[in-house]
Amino acid sequence: MKTVALLLLLTGLLAPGQGYKSSYKGSVYFVCPSGQSIGAMASEHSYYHHDRTWVFVCRDTYGRSGCYWTDFANDFEQLILFECPAQHVIAGMSSYYSNTYKDRRWNFYCCKSPSVSANCHWTKYLNNFTEYFLWAVPTANLLVGVHSYHQNQQEDRRWAYKYCERNNR
Ligand SMILES: *[C@@H]1O[C@H](CO)[C@@H](O)[C@H](O)[C@H]1NC(C)=O
Repeated sequence: MKTVALLLLLTGLLAPGQGYKSSYKGSVYFVCPSGQSIGAMASEHSYYHHDRTWVFVCRDTYGRSGCYWTDFANDFEQLILFECPAQHVIAGMSSYYSNTYKDRRWNFYCCKSPSVSANCHWTKYLNNFTEYFLWAVPTANLLVGVHSYHQNQQEDRRWAYKYCERNNR
């Protein structure tokens, strides 16, 4: 039920021509337009490709400035435990795939925003290995961090995210 509601939300936000979906084994490169940060995502695993596709949706984020790409947050098959600095949001994600490791290295686009409060939470893991997931940042919150670990047996990752309440300014 919850998934259906989120799916409707996500597809509703994906106006024609604005949707982004990565291809299996292809590069992921997604950046929200000025004044926005990542507000929802969906990801589907393929046994055949040993990879996931990604869909991202953006959300209005007051006062975005000073954006930059970080260095890679992980090596292949290694832990991702990433947060943008305080008072920054994640407004983009990028990764490339390795056929050798059957995994991706990720880096992130951080933007300063006075909207990010210090009241933050981590989600639980949103997926089991090889499972589909779809997640929207809770209403009136902003995405600030990413956690993930890899398992060789299934050549996949589990994902969790950190978000902070949005200030009223
Ligand atoms: C993972 O699998 C377990 C056992 O089947 C299930 O209880 C749990 O809800 C799953 N977690 C996620 C995030 O899907």
